[in-house]
Amino acid sequence: MKTEYVKSYPDSPDEAGLARASEIIRSGGLVAFPTETVYGLGGSALNPGSAKKIYAAKGRPSDNPLIIHLYDAREAEEYAYTNEIYYKITDRFSPGPITVILPKKDCVPDEVTGGLDTVAVRIPSHPTARRFLQLCGVAVAAPSANISGSPSPTCAEHVRADLDGRIDMIIDGGTCDIGLESTIVKITSDGVVILRPGAVTEEMLASVAPVGRDKTLLSKPSEDLRPEAPGMKYRHYAPVADVFLVRGGHDDVIAYMKARLCEDESSGIVCTEADRDEISGKNVKYLPNDTEGQARELFEILRGFNETDAKRIYCVTPSRVGIGFALYNRLIKASGFRSVGATVPIPVIGLTGQSGAGKSTAATAFSDAGAYVADCDETYRSLLYKNSPLIKEIKKAFPTVIKRGLLDRAALSAVVFADKDKLALLNSITHEAILKDVRRQLKQAYADGYKLAAVDASQLFEAAFDRECTAVIGVCADEKTRIERIMKRDGISEERARARLSSQHNEDFFRVYCDRTLENNGSPEELYEKAKRIAEEYLKGEAQ
Ligand code: TXA
Ligand code: MG
Repeated sequence: MKTEYVKSYPDSPDEAGLARASEIIRSGGLVAFPTETVYGLGGSALNPGSAKKIYAAKGRPSDNPLIIHLYDAREAEEYAYTNEIYYKITDRFSPGPITVILPKKDCVPDEVTGGLDTVAVRIPSHPTARRFLQLCGVAVAAPSANISGSPSPTCAEHVRADLDGRIDMIIDGGTCDIGLESTIVKITSDGVVILRPGAVTEEMLASVAPVGRDKTLLSKPSEDLRPEAPGMKYRHYAPVADVFLVRGGHDDVIAYMKARLCEDESSGIVCTEADRDEISGKNVKYLPNDTEGQARELFEILRGFNETDAKRIYCVTPSRVGIGFALYNRLIKASGFRSVGATVPIPVIGLTGQSGAGKSTAATAFSDAGAYVADCDETYRSLLYKNSPLIKEIKKAFPTVIKRGLLDRAALSAVVFADKDKLALLNSITHEAILKDVRRQLKQAYADGYKLAAVDASQLFEAAFDRECTAVIGVCADEKTRIERIMKRDGISEERARARLSSQHNEDFFRVYCDRTLENNGSPEELYEKAKRIAEEYLKGEAQ
């Protein structure tokens, strides 16, 4: 089959080309088209034959359902049973990078939904996609326009590399703005559950409905843990070479990558622009420094390795907050959940959560199980001795809060709590100093023969220490329970306990970003036993 090429950029649309494209869709053919996320491979959503052709062209298992693309949210009525939450979500985020799963109507063939009784609906915002969908006049079923398993295409050239000669037409609409596939949500009785993270983040969705997360977003699917988006069970987003995520402090990660380059100069390396002066080589590639840019360029960079002789690719680990979560999710899938520790080659478990949730009980359990435990609060205090390097750093930024070589905590609180920027500056100074010392402790613990380490850090995500952890465990408890515990523990009033909690993330934050949570609404003994069992799993190498 000869594939026709049409160039239709938002600022120079090819009306006639898009009209031909819509004609191909209506007559049962396949057209690849740009969207703001990634390119899609479209066919009529009402034609079972088109769906079969899509699976054949992509080499995709036919139990993996397709998303149907619409020009307008209201058109979903024709194909699915909508509800209030669907309209709340689409009013807010559509057209845009979000897909909603709805119960399907009979007109949508089983071939499109992989036999499911639900259908995924999305209204893209890319102007070329919108004009194309408008001209089609029928929903367009489209998966990403790549060969199954390879990184999704973010420009027409990627589509050509995978599908030239296998489909009727490719519409070139330029490079995709977002670069990662849409967020997929399922509507439940009390809110939404995220089945695939994307540019519409948890925080954004939370303003519309309570958000939950599918357990398989960050963990390896297993027999008893099946992803609800069937596609998520397949290895995804991966170039031909093996990908390894490198965890650890920045300097340790760069040193680790350099060591791999020394062993084999063809090693693939993915680091950031900021590292350009420190590391270079024929297969070293640089992601932009900002997370949005990293999302946009990740697939392009991963694909680029297919033109090199790299057999192994070592990639920096992004922090998982905001759109970083979607980036991290794609990377752990591209790597097949393989990660390596650059600071220490033993598992490092982050323990985090709010005050009163029970983090220290969990830390004690880890310690009793035989893990080395680094406590960030304690580390901070130990770094504040008279005229210490950290004291000097703080003094440079806040001259008035250091008195006779020591920190005046009350004075510091008064300065930073009234001013967000000053607090951010203080945090960047203290986080860096604490993490540097924690890394030193981890290296010492490893030298001393420890097989497992845990880091107790209430500000773990703020300090981006999630990038250095094998897994992050969030200790969570209901607000009422936490307030009672803080009042009792610190002998303070309910009002003060509430004030303290109001400056922290709510428990949903931890439920979203942690790899697993330990719910602690019962007795300390119960929490202790649960935490100890988890520590033992890691020690035996059973947990990931
Ligand atoms: O941004 C995007 O969503 C892109 C562009 C082209 O719109 N499309 C895309 O499609 O990424 P695809 O097929 O590569 O990924 C669709 C995912 C798969 O993991 C599939 O299993 C899931 O959506 N999915 C589709 N229908 C579903 C359903 N009824 N229930 C649960 N998951 C579903
Ligand atoms: Mg795909």
